[in-house]
Amino acid sequence: MDLLVIGGAGFIGSVVAGQLLAAGHRVTVYDSLVNGHRAAIPDGADFVHGDVLDLDALTRTLSRGFDGVFHFAALSLVGESVAEPGRYFRTNIGGTVNVVEAMRATGVNRLVFSSTAAVYGIPDCVPIPETAPVRPISPYGASKLAVDTFLGFAAEAYGLGAVSLRYFNVAGAWDRFGEDHRPETHLIPLALQVALGRRPHLAVFGNDYPTPDGTCIRDYLHVEDLGVAHQLALAAAEPGTHRIYNLGNGAGFSVREVIETARRVTGHPIPTVEAPRRAGDPPVLVASSERIREELGWQPRKPDLETIIADAWAWMQAYPQGYPDE
Ligand code: UFG
Repeated sequence: MDLLVIGGAGFIGSVVAGQLLAAGHRVTVYDSLVNGHRAAIPDGADFVHGDVLDLDALTRTLSRGFDGVFHFAALSLVGESVAEPGRYFRTNIGGTVNVVEAMRATGVNRLVFSSTAAVYGIPDCVPIPETAPVRPISPYGASKLAVDTFLGFAAEAYGLGAVSLRYFNVAGAWDRFGEDHRPETHLIPLALQVALGRRPHLAVFGNDYPTPDGTCIRDYLHVEDLGVAHQLALAAAEPGTHRIYNLGNGAGFSVREVIETARRVTGHPIPTVEAPRRAGDPPVLVASSERIREELGWQPRKPDLETIIADAWAWMQAYPQGYPDE
């Protein structure tokens, strides 16, 4: 198939683009390179340098003809979104409306969208099924929820076949593709940067959450398993329908447990300092992924936290400064 990967120079997008190429598809990456890296675009992919806020460029690109679209291009930092809600709503909602309008104008009707666990806010119970109430507590989560709502209407109105994948916490690496955010804000790569000697210590944000050790609990998922789910999702995208699937392993680890595991994997003491809570962080997010397991047969191959961190560590040792600059 001929597939467009919007945001294919970012962490998850590059892994999915690489996996699609390995599966024999033709891939075009569309990316602004604002957060993505040119060096993360897989060999063999065509590249279009463009922004999701540029409807004309999107429409021109899509008019080349595609069998499906993966849309990863978004702003995705919970804490930053609390300070900059306008930018998050414009890019995440406006950008996706542009993607869908460009698809509609060019007759492309299958879309896989990167949604998030952040739509659930503070859940009543864990693991969280897709039927749980959606009450985001950050502009980031609210922006992704608005898109999920929009996709439901677009499926009905335009005959779009859309699948929203609600990711929990993604980490690890696949092939030559890994996580390189600038600035880095995610727990696992930050812990590994301490082990590499790039930072003196790691801050633990909040030690008074209502959890057994007082730190936040998250469900960490290997990017390789997440990538595979995208191929299943595209195959399941039926024109006129919008499906929603949670993606996680169903096991929660506290910030302290993640740091302990990173210490075991790296053999480094990874010193920590206690810091205040970070705005927008729910205490516990753990997925029920029963729906995608049952309906699409998704099965994580690397659910073990130690494997996820070990793969991230191997990538970081191979690329200690991240991707080379342009
Ligand atoms: N944390 C620290 N210290 C740090 C960085 C993070 O204690 O230096 C804590 C956070 O407070 C949080 C946990 O580690 O409790 C995980 O934080 P991350 O920043 O790694 O990930 P988030 O849970 O904030 O967010 C990620 C994605 C979002 C997605 C969310 C869903 O970035 O896009 O998972 O669970 F919505």
